[in-house]
Amino acid sequence: MKTAIYPGSFDPVTMGHLDIISRASRIFDKVIVLTSRNSDKNPLFSSSERAEMLRLVSAEFENVEVEVFEGLLADYASSIPECVIVKGMRAISDFEREFQMALINSALSPGLDTLFLTTSHRYQFLSSSVVKEVGMLGGDISDFVPTEIMAQVLDRLRERSGSNAGKR
Ligand code: PNS
Repeated sequence: MKTAIYPGSFDPVTMGHLDIISRASRIFDKVIVLTSRNSDKNPLFSSSERAEMLRLVSAEFENVEVEVFEGLLADYASSIPECVIVKGMRAISDFEREFQMALINSALSPGLDTLFLTTSHRYQFLSSSVVKEVGMLGGDISDFVPTEIMAQVLDRLRERSGSNAGKR
């Protein structure tokens, strides 16, 4: 059985992430979406909240599971037989960091490959950070975030910014 591990912060999951989950679920027997417990010192959502949101938005994909992990991704991957890491790659901006992470992971766990899916053209500009900034400043994020988690994201942004989120 070929398993894809799709790791990330997902703070919060965006339409771009969901597009990668959906495409990976068609290519692999199983997809494990892994959200890290400690990648950002001041996340908008806790790792369990991020995992719950990922479960909600990926519920329609029967071969997708969501897990929280801490520690090295290469160690986690070593415990999964016949797996590869899958990441989305946006034009230019992601290349250097993703290339470095792929090489570190294969140095730590020889034979561990990373496959990149090119981000769909309509999501090239999208990131969780952009969603948070636009949302916090009152911009419309409804095209960027899955409908199922929209209210939760807007509520949290409102709590953090104390004002503007979701006004438009
Ligand atoms: O959403 P992101 O920022 O691309 O996710 C980055 C993530 C969580 C995939 C990366 O930071 C990671 O793999 N963290 C686990 C710790 C680890 O293995 N570090 C060494 C490789 S950089």
